[in-house]
Amino acid sequence: MGISVVILAAGQGKRMRSDLPKVLHHLAGRPLLDHVIATAQGLNPDAVFVVHGHGGAQVRERLAHHPVTWIEQREQLGTGHAVQQVLPRLNDADTVLVLYGDVPLVRPETLRALLDQAADRRLALLTVELIDPSGYGRIVRDGGGTIARIVEHKDADAAQRAITEVNTGIMAVPGHLLRRWLGRLDNGNAQGEYYLTDIVAMAVADDVEVASAQPRSALEVSGVNDKSQLSTVEREFQREQAERLMQEGVTLLDPARFDLRGTLKAGRDVVIDVNAVIVGDVELGDRVQVGPNVHIANSRVGNDVEIRSNCVIEDAVIGEGCRIGPFARIRPETELAAHVHVGNFVEIKKSTVAEGSKINHLTYVGDSDVGSRVNIGAGTITCNYDGANKYRTIIGDDVFIGSNTALVAPVTVAEGATIGAGSTISRDAPAGKLTLTRAKQLTVPGWQRPTKKTGQ
Ligand code: UD1
Ligand code: CA
Repeated sequence: MGISVVILAAGQGKRMRSDLPKVLHHLAGRPLLDHVIATAQGLNPDAVFVVHGHGGAQVRERLAHHPVTWIEQREQLGTGHAVQQVLPRLNDADTVLVLYGDVPLVRPETLRALLDQAADRRLALLTVELIDPSGYGRIVRDGGGTIARIVEHKDADAAQRAITEVNTGIMAVPGHLLRRWLGRLDNGNAQGEYYLTDIVAMAVADDVEVASAQPRSALEVSGVNDKSQLSTVEREFQREQAERLMQEGVTLLDPARFDLRGTLKAGRDVVIDVNAVIVGDVELGDRVQVGPNVHIANSRVGNDVEIRSNCVIEDAVIGEGCRIGPFARIRPETELAAHVHVGNFVEIKKSTVAEGSKINHLTYVGDSDVGSRVNIGAGTITCNYDGANKYRTIIGDDVFIGSNTALVAPVTVAEGATIGAGSTISRDAPAGKLTLTRAKQLTVPGWQRPTKKTGQ
């Protein structure tokens, strides 16, 4: 018996008050639907079908990398109607697992437990107890505790509305029975919709058992209908990730002020201060220290690196023992070797910096290769762009660049050279020598400051 997953994602999401289809809104940097598809794929199903409607082209394009089958539901006539659209593609022998594109936190363990409850002649519902069940379909059980049917909130009487066990919408149903029951749905209810939930009463009438499973918590099955609920699932997702990292040994000074939008691989004794935002694939070596307000995206950081407060590091490789910041910006395609120091208000782009070099203050290094043990003085700028093309600057080992130097690329400063402060270097500077361009300083004898003329 295989598994087919049907993900319902055709709803408009009006309450999001957005031009973006609801399921494309982000949870931890990825579309809601991306999370649900990934969870579904994790169950090794035979097939995953996504039912889309409004904004379907945009949704398909954004999630084109997933091997799923897209099914259009032109008009949203209800959850039962949505699943009907998939019927021609469904295998009768499979168990059909229904998921929602806007319920992103559901755990694979919970779904496996639900699937374990389903059998050839048994369907399984994921239900949950809520303190405030209003709006949800209620699970109606008979005197013996057996599930009899689901009543939608709008169709429920006062006694049914008092029921606190609700339908999460997630269910596992044998394919051959689903086909039979979906063919019998009608829309004679308060909302004029084809309710998927009506199959439960049909199962009971057909002597098919209705089992149930429960999630770990109500948060796991909370749906996203507006921006407030979106923030609720975001915080819960972040809380879970932070908890997992702390269990793995990462020190988070405040797990409530830590955001991971991707994957973080951290070594031993990593310490992360407040307001770190980690994006994409990031690796932090052993004993890395991350200061407050640091943004790191798609980067690899070596052992014993200290990243001080307010740094932005993207698509970069930072060698072991480096010290970055405060207030440094490391841009894509930058590689720092071991023990490089990068200080405040320094920007480095598409450059390599070899071991032990120091770029400590107010500097732009772009399209450059910097050797070992180089010292770049405050205010140094590589002029890498002539308005049309970009050129490289090559700086040899043991070079000393005086403060406020402009290096006009393409240019090479050879090994051991010293550049005098305030120079504009547009030709190659030879090895081991002092090179400088500087107007001679002069003092004008007898000069006097102008004074204010009288009578004016
Ligand atoms: C549904 C359930 C209800 C349950 C609740 C949980 C039914 C009839 N009711 O109610 O028992 O407590 O979910 O949140 O199933 N969708 C489509 N096409 C449609 C209609 C809906 O794809 O024609 C999708 C929506 O995008 C959404 C999901 O199905 O992801 C649920 O639809 P929604 O209208 O929110 O159902 P509820 O009325 O909340
Ligand atoms: Ca809903």
